[in-house]
Amino acid sequence: MMKGIVLAGGNGTRLFPLTSATSKQLLAVYNKPMVYYPLSVLMSIGVRDILLISTPSTVPVLRDLLGDGSRLGLNLSYAVQAQPRGIAEAFLIGADHIGDDDTALILGDNVFHGAGLPELLRHAVETLDGCTLFGHPVSDPGRYGIGEVDTAGRLISIEEKPRHPRSDIAITGLYLYDNEVVDIARRLVPSPRGELEITDVNREYLRRGRARLVRLGHDHTWFDCGTPDSLLAAGQYVQFIEKYQGERVACLEEIALRMGFIDAETCYRLGSGMAQSDYGRYLTEIAYALG
Ligand code: TTP
Repeated sequence: MMKGIVLAGGNGTRLFPLTSATSKQLLAVYNKPMVYYPLSVLMSIGVRDILLISTPSTVPVLRDLLGDGSRLGLNLSYAVQAQPRGIAEAFLIGADHIGDDDTALILGDNVFHGAGLPELLRHAVETLDGCTLFGHPVSDPGRYGIGEVDTAGRLISIEEKPRHPRSDIAITGLYLYDNEVVDIARRLVPSPRGELEITDVNREYLRRGRARLVRLGHDHTWFDCGTPDSLLAAGQYVQFIEKYQGERVACLEEIALRMGFIDAETCYRLGSGMAQSDYGRYLTEIAYALG
């Protein structure tokens, strides 16, 4: 079985003053809170047992927003990361949640979308052996963790914010790991800035010959909403898809319905509860259409 973790802490300093008094992952990406997007990715790959990790002040707000997840057919739990001590600390905070299972970690500010993406991700989950990372081409590789693959598509190096990048494939904020990740995280040495680096976890899998990088295609879109420009771009993208292509992005109730986590009646009830919004009306329509 695969457990899920959404890591939604951090300081969001690049978005100040937007994030001076609120958390980045609660900001709007068009018509929904940002955290809906990573949550929707985990749901679309069939993960229902999900731990949300955030700052002491944000955990209660996330809990208000999402509750225990039962209305979506999920089992949501919450944990605090007292300080942003690195992405890999998620595996220490989440060790009990992970138990003996595999885990899918997704960063709370990542938006993924594209035709066939859930199928591609589900295949990666089914064939997981060690660690699977997902790469997406970027125009400014110096800002990201960059993966280099050989001609057979095997991952051969990972560089963090390289000055002379060996490829333009950024490693995105969705990571699949087998259960070894907890032990690997426990043995990590903090970086000079005092963080447990996810890159060090991935390098350890690479060293063991058990890291894969799946390249997302050109028809797949990925944003990390860490800057004002990428936040706005993600919102405009979602607006475009929803308004002009008629598809909803990260509509949690719809995904829960399509995945069989809830029935049409429940979806209809959830929509009726917010029928003043376009989002709520859409839920009642989709419940009717799929019911
Ligand atoms: P970053 O964008 O690297 O950090 P940040 O969100 O604090 O933003 P900034 O650089 O502008 O100060 O983090 C990526 C994601 O991981 C984001 O969703 C926050 C999350 N994160 C944590 O929850 N805890 C951590 O210790 C770190 C490093 C990141």
